[in-house]
Amino acid sequence: SNDVRSDLKHVLYTREEIQQRVTELAQEIDADYQGRDILLVGVLKGAVMVMADLARALHSHVTMDWMAVSSYGSGTQSSGVVRILKDLETDLLGKHVLIVEDIIDSGLTLSWLKANLLSRGPASVEICTLLRKPHAAKVEIDVRYVGFEIPSEFVVGYGLDFAEKYRNLDFIGTLAPHIYE
Ligand code: PRP
Ligand code: MN
Ligand code: MG
Repeated sequence: SNDVRSDLKHVLYTREEIQQRVTELAQEIDADYQGRDILLVGVLKGAVMVMADLARALHSHVTMDWMAVSSYGSGTQSSGVVRILKDLETDLLGKHVLIVEDIIDSGLTLSWLKANLLSRGPASVEICTLLRKPHAAKVEIDVRYVGFEIPSEFVVGYGLDFAEKYRNLDFIGTLAPHIYE
């Protein structure tokens, strides 16, 4: 079958469960920022789906900007040294910045990114991630908004890829072993 769904082992979160959780996060964020303007910074490419849904669920005034980053080093293990492939177009001075991510795995990307954005003189920098894996606990990083804590399994969909595929699924699932073995 050429149906992408036949590549999946099981569904972790349905579209409805994701929408429900993203709406809850948006309500929490609106309450915390109390009418202050928010600059949402999405991390390409994984964060596109959560950015689109979170932004539409928020009632605060928001602007959106994007960064693309890449970890140096070979292999599948993130090195923690990050290179900027596409920088923000927005001056962060005095802004309330909310970084939007799809997943925190090792936490190395975000710990570097948060420090980098903090050095640009914003009023505040917080993080919102839809998913967080247990590994992230190893890195000292304060994540204000977490959608779901998930086990250390390889997940795809709703922005998350395997070899650039499966980002377009409207749910989050685990891959069948025959796909990556
Ligand atoms: C993935 C994911 C996070 C990052 C998390 O991005 O979207 O940005 O890895 O990993 P870490 O916590 O171990 O640093 P990836 O580099 O695969 O790029 P992509 O978003 O374009 O898929
Ligand atoms: Mn990413
Ligand atoms: Mg990826």
